[in-house]
Amino acid sequence: MRPDALQQAVTKMEQRGVDGRAIAVFEDYWRQLADGAHGYIAESDIAPLTEVPELRQVDVDDDQRAEALRRVAVIKLNGGLGTSMGMSGPKSALVARDDLTFLDVIARQLLALGEQHGTRPPLVLMNSFRTHEQSVRILETYPELAHQDLPLDFLQSAEPKLVTDDLSPVSWPDDPELEWCPPGHGDVYVSLATSGLLQQMRDAGIRYAFISNADNLGATCDPDLAAWLLEEGVPFAAEVTERTANDRKGGHLAVRTQDERIVLRDKAQVAPGDEDAFQDTGRHGWFNTNSLWVGLDELAALLEGRDGGLGLPIIVNRKRVDPTRTDAPEVIQIESAMGTAVEAFAGSQAIRVPRSRFRPVKTTNELLLLRSDVFELGDDAVIRSTTGRTDPTIRLDEHYTLIADFDARFPHGVPSLQDCTSLTVTGDITFGADVVCVGDVEVLAPEGPAQVADGARLEGRITLDPA
Ligand code: UTP
Repeated sequence: MRPDALQQAVTKMEQRGVDGRAIAVFEDYWRQLADGAHGYIAESDIAPLTEVPELRQVDVDDDQRAEALRRVAVIKLNGGLGTSMGMSGPKSALVARDDLTFLDVIARQLLALGEQHGTRPPLVLMNSFRTHEQSVRILETYPELAHQDLPLDFLQSAEPKLVTDDLSPVSWPDDPELEWCPPGHGDVYVSLATSGLLQQMRDAGIRYAFISNADNLGATCDPDLAAWLLEEGVPFAAEVTERTANDRKGGHLAVRTQDERIVLRDKAQVAPGDEDAFQDTGRHGWFNTNSLWVGLDELAALLEGRDGGLGLPIIVNRKRVDPTRTDAPEVIQIESAMGTAVEAFAGSQAIRVPRSRFRPVKTTNELLLLRSDVFELGDDAVIRSTTGRTDPTIRLDEHYTLIADFDARFPHGVPSLQDCTSLTVTGDITFGADVVCVGDVEVLAPEGPAQVADGARLEGRITLDPA
């Protein structure tokens, strides 16, 4: 028996044509939510992950690298809407740097890999109903990308946003599309299966899907890593990096004491009272970069005959039905995170990778850094540090949170940060051309909108008068 609210949600999904397996996952999650599940992982049930192998120097030659690349498909998670930066379409359509969008850079990275090794993995985006059109239009400007057996994208599922009180599907006649959301990136596994892509990849002899965030341009397809995984026959590998106090969005890996499996504890899965232990980077030191190498045979075997997908823990996300309106009612979005599948695969491994493989853009602070001269884009479209030092710390206040506001305040590009250790901006300040920041810089405009002059050299604490 389905309670009324669940039945309404299921009917709504059926009417939209959502695949039966995706509906089954939603139903399972809905029931868990109604039963009071939170998806918490208690500190008392886990131990820190201590031994993490580094990508060891593998002795592979160019033939082996090329062979490894033939057995991998590169999947970029591109279904999210970048709501934290006030976006309602693909974040990857934003300019990353040098007038190239994230998707342009990703496409060029793949094509450069092909030139270097004589073969390249297929590139496939996981889009949602909100990101498909705009993203595919960008990829279509690279006709060479179409020379692959796999499609350029597949669509993840859609689910109804739920009324907080009774978990029925929300109604929003102003814009009915806002009644729907993508169910988080944990949906990738079921969507790979329902789209037929999982079978198609296996039929093409592909052994691993390398899956990573479209907003992380450091997540390039490393042929040495692929060759190593193939050699070792690893069923599932999660790339981790040393966790810092700034790693706010995302979680850490740990070992579940009950069965010694590796688990991911995302921020949303922290049980009340465990916050300090979760924040303790000395204790839980391995940050999940959300770059995974997923063995496709093992994935197919796990999904076989299981209607509820991989049974990933649920994440309860509370947002406004219209995220741009603070007066819109609050809704619940039931989501799951891709990395939590680490516990589902027997023999999963964590692999330590350098920070350079993890450059996500979650906020405009990171976007400012990426667009600055602290980085350069190589001929191979790989982003490299130009300084070899720790990145400067960027703190922009709320005038810069939304992408449109950010762009309006840096109309001539971002300041030079090569000699900067930190930049804190407080107030409504528009930056002129060729501004240079040196050392620790703090710019304030307490009295009202202000301007930084063209060619200004900023050093120390500077208080600006209104323009
Ligand atoms: P995030 O969890 O950072 O979310 O996604 P987001 O959508 O980019 O940002 P906010 O929270 O709305 O501001 C990490 C990666 O997973 C993708 C995103 O596109 C991003 O590349 N993603 C997220 C999906 O593909 N599907 C989803 O349902 C959610």
